[in-house]
Parts: sequence; C-alpha cells; structure tokens
Amino acid sequence: MPEKREQLNSITKEISTCRKCPLYQFATNSVPGEGNASAEIVFVGEAPGYYEDQQGRPFVGRAGRLLEQSLDSIGLNREEVFISNVLHHRPPSNRDPLPDEVTACKLFMLRQLEVIQPKILATLGRFAMNVFLPEAKISRDHGKMKKVDDYDFIVFPLYHPAAALRSGSILSDFREDFDRLGKLLKLQSAELNLMKKQEGIDESSKMEQMGLRL
Ligand code: URA
Repeated sequence: MPEKREQLNSITKEISTCRKCPLYQFATNSVPGEGNASAEIVFVGEAPGYYEDQQGRPFVGRAGRLLEQSLDSIGLNREEVFISNVLHHRPPSNRDPLPDEVTACKLFMLRQLEVIQPKILATLGRFAMNVFLPEAKISRDHGKMKKVDDYDFIVFPLYHPAAALRSGSILSDFREDFDRLGKLLKLQSAELNLMKKQEGIDESSKMEQMGLRL
C-alpha cells in the first residue's frame, strides 16, 4: 500500500486532468487541497474562489485569512491540518456549486478523507456540511458535532468563513464554534475514541462541562 502522501499525490494528479464536469474549462488551476497527510482534523470548504484559482491552493483569500487566524486561536496552523473543498475547480463568478458538479467532484474529497483518516471533519458552509449531513441546516446545526454512519470521523459543521466576514453575528458564532472545536480536539484522544465506540455519541457531563454540544 503506497504511503498516504503518495496516495494523496495521485488524487491530486487525477483532479488536475478531471473532465467529469465543465468547470475545468473556465479554471486557471485546479485546487486539489493541501496539508498534513496524517491530519487529525480536515477542513472542507465549498469551492475555490478567485485567489484559489490563481494560485491552485485552497483558502488563500480573505476567507482563508480568517480560517488561519481561527486555527491560530486554537493552537494550530495550516500545515498541521488538511484543507480541501467539495469542488476543485472554480465555478464562474463564484456561483453556487450545481448538484451534478457536487456529485462528480465530491468523490475526490471523500477519497482524500479515506487516505487521511482524520478524527474530525470540520465542514465550512452548507455545501460541505450537506455532503455528510443532507438534512442539516447551517443556522441550526453549526457547532454541533455529529457521528455519521459509514464514516469513522466526527463531523463538526462550521459556518463558511466568507459568511462570517459578511455578518457580525455569524462571525461571533463562527468564533464560538471554533472555540468548541479546539476543546473537542483536546478531548479527542482516549476519551473521544471511547465515545465513538458507543452507539452515536452520548451526551456526557464532561462534554457539557467543556461547552460542547450535540
Ligand atoms: N471558499 C471556499 O469554499 N474554498 C476555498 O478554497 C476558498 C474560499
């Protein structure tokens, strides 16, 4: 079995020549995702924007700066985590992803997760969240961790940082949720593994104490 890094590199190559939807025709670069191949936490956003398309790297514009500051606030930097997107080519004028584009492109991100095997998947915005939690609503479910059948990781939905930059109240929710995510990461080792073995994750007094919610 090739090393994780090699497996991720081969997914990156496939993304760069992907023709499963028309978006490659408008893009300057594909944006495959980047970071630690053994990350405990993976962040998944929606789709590359202008700067990401120019540089071929995820979250390098204003939203990316907020993501980096937020990572810093919980003692992490972008090299320690893995950052990807649902779509790997920029939609024209940053329009929302179309259902067919999500269906075709999400498979690359799901394969990246299979390789990395993170403990936590933090989704950024509703498109990434709905890949894993189709019924979830971002305004209701942000900041609430969920264990989803079929996946070994815990899903932790966050608002998209671009939405947080547009609204003060979303920014304050985003910061609170990030704080919770930091606490969840600290809990994650032995205790979290124990909780994951249970059917779903029971509300525990320890988690309550730490301000974590289900
Ligand atoms: N917004 C996203 O959803 N992804 C990026 O990579 C950048 C901005």
